[in-house]
Amino acid sequence: MIGEVAFNYPFHAFDDERNSEALALLAAIHEYSKEARHLFVNPLRHWMYRLSDVRRYHGAIGMFRRLCQEMYRQFLDTPPEQRDPTSIIFHIHKAPYASDFERIGDIFMLFLAGHDTTGFTISWGVYHLAKNPRVLKKLQQELDGADFAGDLPTYEELSPLPYFNACIKEIMRISPVASNGSIRQTEGGMKVTSGGVDYWLPGGYEIYAAIMPVLTDDRIWGDGNVFRPERWLEASEEQLKLYNKAFQPFSMAPRSCIGTNLAMIEVRLTMAVLFTRYEFEVIQEPTPVSAVTYKPQGLTVRSIKRT
Ligand code: HEM
Repeated sequence: MIGEVAFNYPFHAFDDERNSEALALLAAIHEYSKEARHLFVNPLRHWMYRLSDVRRYHGAIGMFRRLCQEMYRQFLDTPPEQRDPTSIIFHIHKAPYASDFERIGDIFMLFLAGHDTTGFTISWGVYHLAKNPRVLKKLQQELDGADFAGDLPTYEELSPLPYFNACIKEIMRISPVASNGSIRQTEGGMKVTSGGVDYWLPGGYEIYAAIMPVLTDDRIWGDGNVFRPERWLEASEEQLKLYNKAFQPFSMAPRSCIGTNLAMIEVRLTMAVLFTRYEFEVIQEPTPVSAVTYKPQGLTVRSIKRT
């Protein structure tokens, strides 16, 4: 999806699931994220070429870079009047960069950051609704009863649907795909308090502010590990304030996710269409794996067209 909406570069992954470019890309993303989580804790692995995982990681990075160069080349080959001014690549092209190497680097980062995140959010969504038929039924009643003008709902038409919005929030709360959260470096030394104990962090330390513990903490949510969209609709004003403060799947403050709006459009529209048209049954339970993103590895579902 990100190829099409952000870079006008379709991978045809939807209409041809055996498409070799899409499959090669998925394999490279898998290799990249498998090794990246080790690199977070041991950056020295970067140079350990004897490890096959490290070699495959470098191979994946090379593949992404070539792909991003190709996306940019195709953009440059497109006559200016046919370029899509709403695409991300259009703006990257217009922005001043010191070199094309850096420009390609940004295409690369946006591509990676926008791929697994929305994809796995949708996968987790399908999983939770397949496991909770009561919730799916209630959601389908709301979607069926809504008065959409066209065949597919628009983003604006979905905004006033309370249960739909509660479901999306609950999916992103209980299965936050960017579960590792933000990485920051301390400028000077600073004190942090955790569990009533004070810790001193010297300057130059890397800190991971993980999102998952906040999004599932029972002190905030009561039953933080239970999938229950109703919590968003039943909460008192006071509780809702606390929920909204703790709900930060895109992190917060100036360096929060730059793709929040695009991600929400993709996730909401895709889920609305999926849940309006299909029932789902889980065939294989996923193993939750937190690599760069938090993914439902191995999840297999059967979709049944609604009549
Ligand atoms: C459900 C989907 C997504 C989630 C949950 C998500 C979440 C996040 C989070 C938690 C961060 C870290 C922010 C921080 O360091 O405080 C982040 C960073 C980022 N995201 Fe997303 N993201 C999603 C989709 C996207 C999409 C679709 C794009 C691009 C098209 C994108 C581009 C980025 C970029 C470029 C950064 C780095 C921002 C920076 O360092 O300033 N994300 N995202």
